[in-house]
Amino acid sequence: MKILKKILVVLLVLFVVAQFFGPEKNEGEMTSMDAFYSETNPSPEVKKILEVSCNDCHSDVTEYPWYNSITPVNYWLASHVNDGKKHFNISNWEGSPTRRKDHKFEELIEMVEEKEMPLNSYTWTHTDAKLSDEQINALVDWAKKVRIKYSLEPRPE
Ligand code: HEC
Repeated sequence: MKILKKILVVLLVLFVVAQFFGPEKNEGEMTSMDAFYSETNPSPEVKKILEVSCNDCHSDVTEYPWYNSITPVNYWLASHVNDGKKHFNISNWEGSPTRRKDHKFEELIEMVEEKEMPLNSYTWTHTDAKLSDEQINALVDWAKKVRIKYSLEPRPE
């Protein structure tokens, strides 16, 4: 019993000390998304879906929940954001070749149709981010239109 108490005290101290550490926050400029929005032209409905269900992990601007102030939860959230942004970042859209952008939209359609996005671990805590069938259709219709637009653009080999 005594040893258990000691272990608990050590863990508590470690936890308290850990609170002084945390990852850097993903808090860039909202305007970083302008280029993406003007190029892909989402309806207000689709834009809203992106804002509520996707942008926390796929843009430079994350709206953090209160539990992000707890270490190590913040490191876990940061790893999702970094990983999400590495694959698809709407704040970093300009300058990418059309072929790559088109491929991202191909992935987007697949991810959304197969209900792989938004991540389940996200919708557990952000219940409003869960997509209804209508929302999935709206996203997919928009993404297909964007792909048609990209298919008409010249692509240097
Ligand atoms: C909690 C964070 C999170 C949320 C919210 C989220 N994603 Fe993701 N997304 C990720 C991560 C992490 C990856 C990379 C790993 C993987 O493919 O599972 C990813 C991968 C992707 C990819 C794949 C890109 C590629 O090149 O393979 C697309 C497209 C995508 N997400 C679109 C979306 C869309 C659209 C939404 C909203 C409906 C969304 N995501 C919501 C974290 C998130």
